[in-house]
Amino acid sequence: MLRAVFEAARWAPSSFNEQPWRFLVATRDEPEWLRRLQDYLDPRNGWARTAPVLVATAYRTHSPKTNERSRVAQRDLGAAEQNMFLQATALGLAFHQLAGFEHERLQRTLLPRGFEPGTLIAIGYPCDADAISVTHPPPNATSRSRLPLADLVFRDEWGVAASFASTIDQPAPDSRSGGARVTQARHLCHE
Ligand SMILES: Cc1cc2nc3c(=O)[nH]c(=O)nc-3n(C[C@H](O)[C@H](O)[C@H](O)COP(=O)(O)O)c2cc1C
Repeated sequence: MLRAVFEAARWAPSSFNEQPWRFLVATRDEPEWLRRLQDYLDPRNGWARTAPVLVATAYRTHSPKTNERSRVAQRDLGAAEQNMFLQATALGLAFHQLAGFEHERLQRTLLPRGFEPGTLIAIGYPCDADAISVTHPPPNATSRSRLPLADLVFRDEWGVAASFASTIDQPAPDSRSGGARVTQARHLCHE
């Protein structure tokens, strides 16, 4: 399954097809290496220590062709991460990106020159919200919400909602109702 998740990242689009993304992956099969990655987690994300897989993402900051700093490399990495998210959730896995980690220490100790960290990603198995007491879930762990479409999509001028955006928004997809499985790893189980 992990292979499929990284294949999805590999096939993401990127500016000039420069593919600036790189990944450091640790699984439970390599407990020492996994613990090293866990040690970068912000204490508020301590619950992610229960994840059987952690991934540190990184991107090359400069174009290998022009040597200029890329304006979109981080964005390309984001596209690759979203591909991973979609593949992982399609496979029934839980996938949670984390910005809360020791960014500078990770860069200094794990990455070569010319690369910057993106996120840490916890990958695991989803379970019912009731079962998350075994972990230390982040706040707002049970409800999912998004800004209304009318606050995001405009026409004519900034702030004027496009006509289709003013209709009632779809509720959050919910795996229990058979919709797309976009549950986050906060619903992550030990096993
Ligand atoms: C780049 C990025 C960084 C994030 N960092 C954290 C984090 O440090 N800790 C955390 O608990 N969640 C983090 N999240 C998860 C968001 O909080 C989550 O996607 C958002 O609350 C929506 O949750 P939902 O999709 O379950 O509704 C991050 C998400 C992204 C995309």
